[in-house]
Amino acid sequence: MSISSKDKRVTTHRLLEMKQRGEKIAILTAYEYSIAKILDNTGIDVILVGDSASNVMAGHETTVPITLNEMIYHASGVVKGVKRALVVVDLPFGTYQGNSKEALSSAIRIMKETGASAVKMEGGAEVKESVIRILSAGIPVMGHLGLTPQSIHKFGTYVVRAQDKKEAEKLIEDAHLLEEAGVFGIVLEKIPAILGKKVAQSLKIPIIGIGAGNKVDGQILVLHDMLGITQEFSPRFLRRYHNLNKEIHNAVANYIDDVKKVKFPDEKEQY
Ligand code: KIV
Repeated sequence: MSISSKDKRVTTHRLLEMKQRGEKIAILTAYEYSIAKILDNTGIDVILVGDSASNVMAGHETTVPITLNEMIYHASGVVKGVKRALVVVDLPFGTYQGNSKEALSSAIRIMKETGASAVKMEGGAEVKESVIRILSAGIPVMGHLGLTPQSIHKFGTYVVRAQDKKEAEKLIEDAHLLEEAGVFGIVLEKIPAILGKKVAQSLKIPIIGIGAGNKVDGQILVLHDMLGITQEFSPRFLRRYHNLNKEIHNAVANYIDDVKKVKFPDEKEQY
């Protein structure tokens, strides 16, 4: 990556150009200022303030309970730490399904109160009206199909989605519908790699995979999972790049030991 492209602000238009020239798009989640600042300095393309914050920050079992106010709190910290990456914020469950007017006011709150550049929404035909209304207000939207965790109570399980013909056809239809509506990209979660490839090849907009194989236009992972902070979650698509859980544990154990043995603070660490 050249210095100029490394420093240039990422826009939705730039993501489209990346797809056109075959450059893969790298996305990670962040939920706070300090971590977002580190991520932005690495040259990551997009930061998603995911509603996975419900799991990894708030300790909920699903993404269903997180509120719009909580997402706004996380996103406004992230935006303050970012100079270059595109910041996308998940619209949480219950703030856009069923009522496009409410969907627009949720998206407007996110844009006004956080300074983020786009929102992400789960679903296809079911949320079309809300997607169109938000887009018509000039707010960029990213779609999310396949395993959509906000619908976990409908699915009943986190197994691979769209394995049968009917569900795969519906996913392809939804992806086309979202592209025609004007979304700038779509996340495909936990679907067969062959289906991920088919969608990426047939659409002009970037298709970002999480468990959708490597023939899509980019990848996203939850930061806490890829850094090994979370340990209980181990789907096949997750590559752990570090064991931060162990590192944090060892650092804290050393600190406790130093305090107990009066090895901390030492002479140089006091006034
Ligand atoms: O909430 C999230 O982190 C997400 C990603 C897993 C795509 O939606």
